[in-house]
Amino acid sequence: MPAIVQVENVTKTYDGGFEALRNTNLEIEQGEILALLGPNGAGKTTLISTICGLSAPTSGHIRVGGHDVVSDFREARKLVGLVPQEINLEPFEFVMNTVRFSRGLFGKSRNDALLESVLRDLSLWDKRNARIAELSGGMKRRVLIAKALSHEPRVLFLDEPTAGVDVELRKDMWALVDRLRQDGVTIILTTHYIEEAEAIADRVGVINKGEILLVEDKADLLARMGRKEMRIELTETVSAVPLSLKKYDLARVDDGAALVYSYDTRGERTGITSLLTDLQGAGLGLKDVQTRQSSLEDIFVTLVQEASA
Ligand SMILES: Nc1ncnc2c1ncn2[C@@H]1O[C@H](COP(=O)(O)OP(=O)(O)O)[C@@H](O)[C@H]1O
Ligand SMILES: [Mg+2]
Repeated sequence: MPAIVQVENVTKTYDGGFEALRNTNLEIEQGEILALLGPNGAGKTTLISTICGLSAPTSGHIRVGGHDVVSDFREARKLVGLVPQEINLEPFEFVMNTVRFSRGLFGKSRNDALLESVLRDLSLWDKRNARIAELSGGMKRRVLIAKALSHEPRVLFLDEPTAGVDVELRKDMWALVDRLRQDGVTIILTTHYIEEAEAIADRVGVINKGEILLVEDKADLLARMGRKEMRIELTETVSAVPLSLKKYDLARVDDGAALVYSYDTRGERTGITSLLTDLQGAGLGLKDVQTRQSSLEDIFVTLVQEASA
């Protein structure tokens, strides 16, 4: 099956000449959850806007479900739902009407039973007759999600959906994402909360300064770039790493009260057994040992730093 979203050699130059996307290629498979990570200004919202047909690419092509988002925008748009980064709601409209109107915009026939289940899923059913202006910020964000789901999109874009929201909404949203995934909905999420990507994504893309640095299966990425560290607390401080231990990747920390050993998680042999023996041989006593796995966050920071260097 061809990818449900195909982005081919897309560039986006804004009026004024700023190049927000450079030669971007991306294929998103049906049913996957892709997290797009990148610092502020990286081009995440621009990329989403071009895929959703809100902003035309300067060059290149984008297809959603095989439909070109420029020449066949009606068909392409029907398939996508977007929860925008900014809240853009009509303040005096009622919640139910807002969501019903959104569905109508996509040419779908009225289906209040479906809208009821969407509103219930988002804990908005009790608020269906409230005006938007009466809602809290978190509730407004829920309405944005309800609107995006009102026409049963096959591809859902969530642009920084949990930036500044309460823990409850974040949890509800993760649960909702899980249900949508079970229905085969493809989800693209931008975030700079890396834990979020780590928790829910199948694949992770990293974008920086308008360029996609990588797109990779999350587990593969963690395995490929993941390193582990073992922290060895010593019974007595050392003034330097003993010469006999030079072959190990050891760093002296805490004024010599501990040594940190870094090793590759992919390696067949971690070197730990021989290191422990050699530590004893060097006359060092061990008080405590802890290990720690590098996280997606460590990897992300490293990638962006390398790209900016
Ligand atoms: N309408 C616009 N006109 C000119 N520049 C823009 C416009 N929208 C975004 N930009 C610029 O493009 C870059 C990428 O923005 P954006 O896609 O919003 O990044 P992100 O969502 O990753 O924070 C930023 O430098 C931003 O200032
Ligand atoms: Mg953005």
